[in-house]
Amino acid sequence: MKIQVNRTVLELVEGDITEMETDAIVNAANEYLIHGGGVAGAIACRGGPTIQQESDEWVRRHGPVPTGSAAITSGGRLKARYVIHAVGPVYDRGAPEQSAQLLASAVRAALRMADEHHLKSVALPAISTGIFGYPLEDAAQVMIKAATEYLSGETGLERVVFCLYGRPAYEAFAAALEPWMPVTGASWRSFRDTSQ
Ligand code: APR
Repeated sequence: MKIQVNRTVLELVEGDITEMETDAIVNAANEYLIHGGGVAGAIACRGGPTIQQESDEWVRRHGPVPTGSAAITSGGRLKARYVIHAVGPVYDRGAPEQSAQLLASAVRAALRMADEHHLKSVALPAISTGIFGYPLEDAAQVMIKAATEYLSGETGLERVVFCLYGRPAYEAFAAALEPWMPVTGASWRSFRDTSQ
């Protein structure tokens, strides 16, 4: 499933993000960039020790990565040249609005980091929806909105992919993307066109 937002294709795929051949893949990281479990563990394992070493170096130089922001390392042995480490929030049931703002900020920070490195393509996982407990359907709405808004502005990105792990995650993102799809006629129109 894909749409076009200005000059960028925004796409959903179901799969393992460590296999993606985009210029960068995004990691769902913690503030200390200690890549233990979940997608972080898979990325660190598949990419080899360079990723954790460069992450440790980043934290030594810049300090912990605040929630809602991002860091970058090389991709080690991955197909992607870079890993962008975005820190999403631990979901706070008592403050869902604040969680949403931090999650949107993490998505924007990851895309901005890709632009700052003049990358053309990037793949993101469903940040915060695993160990950090963010409800999948809510996270999908927040992430799709943040990405479409970012891509409506100045960007050199040509392809942004949400790489979803398993059918339920894919379905949640597909439901969130549905309102952005063309209503009738051609299945391929720009986001600007469909919003008129
Ligand atoms: N490819 C794509 N998505 C994946 C993969 C994979 N190989 N493995 C897991 N996921 C999905 C999960 O199904 C979930 O939907 O990534 C999403 C995010 O889950 P987590 O990895 O648990 O990330 P998060 O909830 O943001 O928690 C971050 O977990 O691994 C630690 O170091 C990380 O402390 C940090 C915390």
